Amino acid sequence: MIRQGELVEIEIQDVSSDGNGVGKIDSQVIFVPHTVTGDRILAKLIKVKKKYAQGRLEKIIHPSDNRIRPRCIVADKCGGCKWQHIDYGHQLEIKHNQVKETLNRIGGFTEFEVEEILADTDLAYRNKASYPLGMSDNGNIKAGYYREGSHQIINLNQCPIQDERLNPLLAEIKQDLQELGIPIYDENTKKGILRHLCFRIGKNTGEILITIVITKPSNYKLAQQAPLWLERYANVVGVTLNYNPRPTNVIFGEETELLAGRLYLKEEFAGLTFTLRTESFFQVNTNVAESLFTWVIDELNLQGHETVIDLYCGIGTLTLPIAKKVQKVIGIEFDKIAIELANHNAVINDIDNVKFMEGKSEVIFPELTTDADVVILDPPRKGCQPEVIEALLKMKPRKIVYVSCHPATLARDLKMLCENNDYRLERVKPADFFPQTTHVETAVILQSTTTH
Ligand SMILES: C[S@@+](CC[C@H](N)C(=O)[O-])C[C@H]1O[C@@H](n2cnc3c(N)ncnc32)[C@H](O)[C@@H]1O
Repeated sequence: MIRQGELVEIEIQDVSSDGNGVGKIDSQVIFVPHTVTGDRILAKLIKVKKKYAQGRLEKIIHPSDNRIRPRCIVADKCGGCKWQHIDYGHQLEIKHNQVKETLNRIGGFTEFEVEEILADTDLAYRNKASYPLGMSDNGNIKAGYYREGSHQIINLNQCPIQDERLNPLLAEIKQDLQELGIPIYDENTKKGILRHLCFRIGKNTGEILITIVITKPSNYKLAQQAPLWLERYANVVGVTLNYNPRPTNVIFGEETELLAGRLYLKEEFAGLTFTLRTESFFQVNTNVAESLFTWVIDELNLQGHETVIDLYCGIGTLTLPIAKKVQKVIGIEFDKIAIELANHNAVINDIDNVKFMEGKSEVIFPELTTDADVVILDPPRKGCQPEVIEALLKMKPRKIVYVSCHPATLARDLKMLCENNDYRLERVKPADFFPQTTHVETAVILQSTTTH
């Protein structure tokens, strides 16, 4: 019998989907953060339940071959990355297994192959950063990510998973904000003005947007500062002010004001030009997203006569490259600004066989009278609404492509689509959009069992 507070020596045998090392004492499972498969460790048991226990790493007795020295100086504090101590090859192995195990455990799939995981560089991959702002004890502005499981900001002057071109801006703009003397928003008292400092970069064009999130609709000091940033940084094409008065964890509010330059940046993606804004959704790992979307398009083997529906389409990142290969595409998205950008993106790329519809997928899709050959789903982490699954089973497109950032909801939805043998799993392709973190992206192609 193990007891809370006890020190135990264990061998880490696996890594769980939420990123913690997993060991065992008899049949009791023990989760220990900051460990990796193959570590022999001493852990202090901080919580003991009937079926599992939570341990804290006290000492590494023998490090695993999968363990590396973190490339970030605040890796042990910052909650942004959980796997800086794990060799990249092993991170990919864990993610591959996670997709396989989840499709089996939650989806009930037994005979299927998970293909090799798509990956690129393990650092400097993010094209977007949103740093909450806070005040340190010595009165200096802090910007960084939260300590894991808290809202305590770990101050950063650079971040190794961000695009390197964004790093110089972080320290300098933080200093400028310090000098402007605008009060920092305090989450506890709900007082203050400055909330977040955000950057977005076009990986392929180098264009950068700076966005400051504040609680009030406008600010004259920032309005005066913005043109100076535009002058100082050759790659900065716009400075915007987002207004978020709500006391929630959501970063952006609904209104954005242009302070200098333009509201959007241009990016080259999948052979097309896209305009995007800091607040609209765009995959954070440009290179791997491009590889995965190219894989999807290639594997669909489109012949030119097809009709495709792209649900949760964002600014058209998949819709528009597909439109080049088929007769007609409909994209559905509930974010008004994303739809405006998607329409603009169609125009600048001379694409006229696409129609973007603004609204919820679960409302618009079941009402559509168009029959599609292929339906693409790329929902947020919570997966598809039941109305979407029901409408798919009624429409019965020849193929369904499901792009997911959360294996558990992917498995749940695929189970519903396949349980009556209407569809079968044809391809499962994981992709590492988020190196150093526990997250994994997966694209799945389902084939209808009905002959069309
Ligand atoms: C994971 S993103 C995918 C966007 C796009 N496919 C891409 O790769 O850039 C999910 C998108 O779904 C949108 N969204 C979330 N819930 C929605 C809903 N119920 N109906 C329509 N769109 C929704 C979000 O605004 C976001 O743009």
